[in-house]
Amino acid sequence: MDKIQNFRCPRIVFGNRAIEKIADEIKSQNSKKIMIITSKSNRPNAQKIRDLLSGFEVEIFDAVEPEPSLGTLSKCIESLKNGGHDTVIGLWGGIVLDVAKAAAVLCKNPGTPHDYLGIDKIKNAGLKKILIPTTSGTGSEVTHVSVFLDENKKKVVMYSPYLFADLALIDPVLTLSLPKKITAETGMDALGHAIESYISLNASPLTESLSLKAIELIGKSLQLAVEDGSNLEARYNMSLAATVAGIAFLNAGCNLGHALALAVGGKYNISHGLSVALMMPYAVEFNAQTAEEKLKVVCGLLCEKKGEKKSKKKKSAAETIRDLMKSIGIDGHLTNYGFRAEDIKELAETTMAASRLLVNNPRKVTLEDVVRLFERVK
Ligand SMILES: [Fe+2]
Repeated sequence: MDKIQNFRCPRIVFGNRAIEKIADEIKSQNSKKIMIITSKSNRPNAQKIRDLLSGFEVEIFDAVEPEPSLGTLSKCIESLKNGGHDTVIGLWGGIVLDVAKAAAVLCKNPGTPHDYLGIDKIKNAGLKKILIPTTSGTGSEVTHVSVFLDENKKKVVMYSPYLFADLALIDPVLTLSLPKKITAETGMDALGHAIESYISLNASPLTESLSLKAIELIGKSLQLAVEDGSNLEARYNMSLAATVAGIAFLNAGCNLGHALALAVGGKYNISHGLSVALMMPYAVEFNAQTAEEKLKVVCGLLCEKKGEKKSKKKKSAAETIRDLMKSIGIDGHLTNYGFRAEDIKELAETTMAASRLLVNNPRKVTLEDVVRLFERVK
């Protein structure tokens, strides 16, 4: 109760068909020339936004790949450098939003993206940024973090207050066409944010309330959204869950689960959401005793929908998460994605390098702990 927290959050416009407000927002920001940054697969949505912005000069950059490298970011920065744009719209999942917000800022900073990896290296504010997610998971639209793959296929991270969006425009209707696999994996990323921020040493009553709401919504709606993508209520709940979980982890931080996920995601080229899902049960097991009471609450919220609370045998949080993964079609075995015992030392060292995450973990983590954890991985 004595903890004083500096709570950060960008401006958010949230709701079904919120995208229809885009022209009003662009007008109120006095923007003249806009670059929409997206992927080729999302070109129809970008075109829809361009149509809503008739009367403004709008270009589309659609060359962002599924796992963007620093090379892609550099190309995007070059397109913005001499283009005279004043506003960037990032459209798609977190990986595209990460490129969009970094490009919008780095086009006004000298040097290469390498110069700005790490914490608070960026000196100049960039172009205005509107971030529009079409997935429900990463929370990138509300955070000041961008993640990329470097030349050695390692995940590298950039943190800066300049990476915050001027506006996060979140429209659950845009997620209706999301395929089952992406719905499942991004939904598990949101769950990782919610659980890790909830048990974080840096959690506060403000962040805990958001984390709990996200867990409740995911327990109620993730399976429904995967089973029937056209279920707008489930999609709305998942968009809301991803948003509030994003704000919770922005302020309370993630921890061991994401440190493990960054290591395996880079090593085996696994999507961020799937990496988070695969490592979540192991991280939760590691923290089971230190965060026992909180993890009981997590279990209760995830099981509520199916009335599993009433069953005689209480499931652990890790079992509950594994069951959820099964119910949404995620194969939870890391061995099926390339994991080999010979890689354990390297994976453990990469995990330990994410000290900014591990510092928030409720149980102290050592290299030996992480090696033992990976020895149990199937
Ligand atoms: Fe994440």
